[in-house]
Amino acid sequence: MELNKNTVFDCSVIDISKIHSEAGNITVVENDKNIPFHVKRIYYLYDVPAGEARGGHAHYELEQYVVAASGSFDVVLDDGVNKRRVSLNRPYMALHIVPGLWRELDNFSSGSITMVLASEVYEEKDYIRDYKTYIEKKK
Ligand code: TYD
Repeated sequence: MELNKNTVFDCSVIDISKIHSEAGNITVVENDKNIPFHVKRIYYLYDVPAGEARGGHAHYELEQYVVAASGSFDVVLDDGVNKRRVSLNRPYMALHIVPGLWRELDNFSSGSITMVLASEVYEEKDYIRDYKTYIEKKK
């Protein structure tokens, strides 16, 4: 399978915006309105022990919005040439990860929740889990 030529600079942090009230805030993501792909799957990471890292893979096709629904963490993006560390700590900000990028998540705050909106259902075939293989395929 061909690996997308996207670079870390094709990923961006998007302000989803919020509906504010004295009683609390709401942030809305709606297909065809404020997200550049159709959401087929939502998953969330929680109870990540201190010092732990997640991710450590790339996807051929999958696109994602990654949101710090609670707390904070960093996403390290890597396209084989450039690396970019993005800190997420606001529930109304989403990191758009385009296909073909290596990513790791670390620096999780205690109690943080990582919400991921994904363009495809889970498919192990869409993963590259070996960094050397990723670098070879990215060339
Ligand atoms: P993985 O994507 O490797 O997690 P992370 O990138 O956060 O470190 O997935 C961890 C495990 O969970 C792996 O066994 C596959 C399984 N999994 C599913 O079954 N469905 C899913 O939608 C996801 C994201 C993971």
